[in-house]
Amino acid sequence: MREMGIVLFPCLLLLSTSLTKGYAAITRASPLSLGQTLSSPGGTYELGFFSPNNSQNQYLGIWFKKLTPRVIVWVANREKPVTNLVANLTISINGSLILLDSSQNVVWSTRTPSTSNKCHAKLLDTGNLVIVDDVSGSILWQSFDNLGDTMLPQSSLMYNRATGEKRVLTSWKSTSDPSPGDFVIQIMQQVPPQVFTMRGSTPYGRSGPWAKTKFAGVPLMDESYASPFSLSPDVENGTINFSYLQRNSEFSRVVITSEGSTKLFQYNGTGWRLGYESPGNPCDLYSACGPFGVCVTSNPTKCNCIKGFVPKSMEEWKRGNMTSGCVRRTKLSCQTNSSTKIQGKGTDVFYRMANVASRCGSADFSAEVQLAYCERYNC
Ligand SMILES: *[C@@H]1O[C@H](CO)[C@@H](O)[C@H](O)[C@H]1NC(C)=O
Ligand SMILES: *[C@@H]1O[C@H](CO)[C@@H](O)[C@H](O)[C@H]1NC(C)=O
Ligand SMILES: *[C@@H]1O[C@H](CO)[C@@H](O)[C@H](O)[C@H]1NC(C)=O
Ligand SMILES: *[C@@H]1O[C@H](CO)[C@@H](O)[C@H](O)[C@H]1NC(C)=O
Ligand SMILES: *[C@@H]1O[C@H](CO)[C@@H](O)[C@H](O)[C@H]1NC(C)=O
Ligand SMILES: *[C@@H]1O[C@H](CO)[C@@H](O)[C@H](O)[C@H]1NC(C)=O
Ligand SMILES: *[C@@H]1O[C@H](CO)[C@@H](O)[C@H](O)[C@H]1NC(C)=O
Ligand SMILES: *[C@@H]1O[C@H](CO)[C@@H](O)[C@H](O)[C@H]1NC(C)=O
Repeated sequence: MREMGIVLFPCLLLLSTSLTKGYAAITRASPLSLGQTLSSPGGTYELGFFSPNNSQNQYLGIWFKKLTPRVIVWVANREKPVTNLVANLTISINGSLILLDSSQNVVWSTRTPSTSNKCHAKLLDTGNLVIVDDVSGSILWQSFDNLGDTMLPQSSLMYNRATGEKRVLTSWKSTSDPSPGDFVIQIMQQVPPQVFTMRGSTPYGRSGPWAKTKFAGVPLMDESYASPFSLSPDVENGTINFSYLQRNSEFSRVVITSEGSTKLFQYNGTGWRLGYESPGNPCDLYSACGPFGVCVTSNPTKCNCIKGFVPKSMEEWKRGNMTSGCVRRTKLSCQTNSSTKIQGKGTDVFYRMANVASRCGSADFSAEVQLAYCERYNC
């Protein structure tokens, strides 16, 4: 079995290089047409047209060249597929990369801030599609600045505190529709920074604050966890980068699925091993049990109120809608008439809760501090 693989490999390599011959780069003289592909120099990634679900819709995308089934890591014309059988990817007179259909309509184009008319596009072995100025050699545009639903080892999410500029991941609408879906992963501007999954304008999940090497809000990331993720501020230009390290595998990717799950996949030689997943269980969802609610990771998942609290709306709670959370059963004595306050019986005390992970606050507080914090910020 093993020997067969060694013998077959050079043949496959020869076959694939001969098919992509002549497309080291896309220029105005050599556009990329439907059915043709552009390979990265080392053969890691490939750019070409694909049709999800065997539909008539043609999208320009990047995938892992050597792996089947094909895994798409980037799509150019997410919202506007080509629906006829003719299309050309070429460089326009103003230096933009443009996708033309059979009627020479521009289906998609990069907004390259340049008037250079001598440039070419090529695919790097990092999976980055770049437009390079022929004269200066500088990069005029790159797909790594315009990510889709996937982050690769050399790409990163970004947030610029000064300008508010951000680079995010946006899910596909469905597994067969690459148009922008409901979920976006982005760095939020808090200090320390956090990574949020948003569903529209509503938080869907969050990492918790970054604590040197890992996220404080992720139960999996305990003392022994060697996080592949990194969230590093770039003091000089005021940006924060979120990226990950590829360990012990030739290929890897981080993807936001159309259902809102963030998944890190590592290729193990035969398939994609799931290295990390968030949310890992229903209790990881943002405000799963509402304010002052406690989510219990039993099967099925259960919502409780913390001690001294009752569901805000028993009817909603019974219907399985816990979003309104819990409220105090009795007022704190400091909230009532202070002159009736006596020492001992009837005064407010802190209650210690064991085995809970804080989903509020800005650090992993002890339970006592958490209650005081929740009270103040009504989280
Ligand atoms: C994709 O194909 C499957 C099986 O043919 C079908 O059930 C599904 O509806 C298709 N999805 C879309 C978005 O067309
Ligand atoms: C560049 O040219 C293309 C096609 O001719 C056009 O769609 C695009 O808007 C132009 N870009 C700029 C920045 O002028
Ligand atoms: C694509 O480019 C080829 C080669 O330049 C040209 O012959 C063909 O007409 C182009 N097709 C479209 C749709 O632009
Ligand atoms: C942030 O990411 C960009 C683009 O991926 C990279 O050029 C830059 O060096 C990164 N900065 C830091 C501090 O990691
Ligand atoms: C930020 O800094 C990184 C490296 O420190 C650099 O590669 C990048 O181009 C800078 N970005 C901006 C917008 O200046
Ligand atoms: C690789 O991962 C896949 C998917 O998790 C699994 O089915 C397969 O057994 C793994 N192969 C090896 C060699 O570990
Ligand atoms: C749950 O209750 C909240 C108000 O407490 C309401 O806004 C929301 O629509 C309810 N959700 C469902 C699914 O009924
Ligand atoms: C607090 O209690 C005192 C004595 O019982 C009473 O005179 C006062 O009106 C009360 N104040 C409030 C705000 O209820």
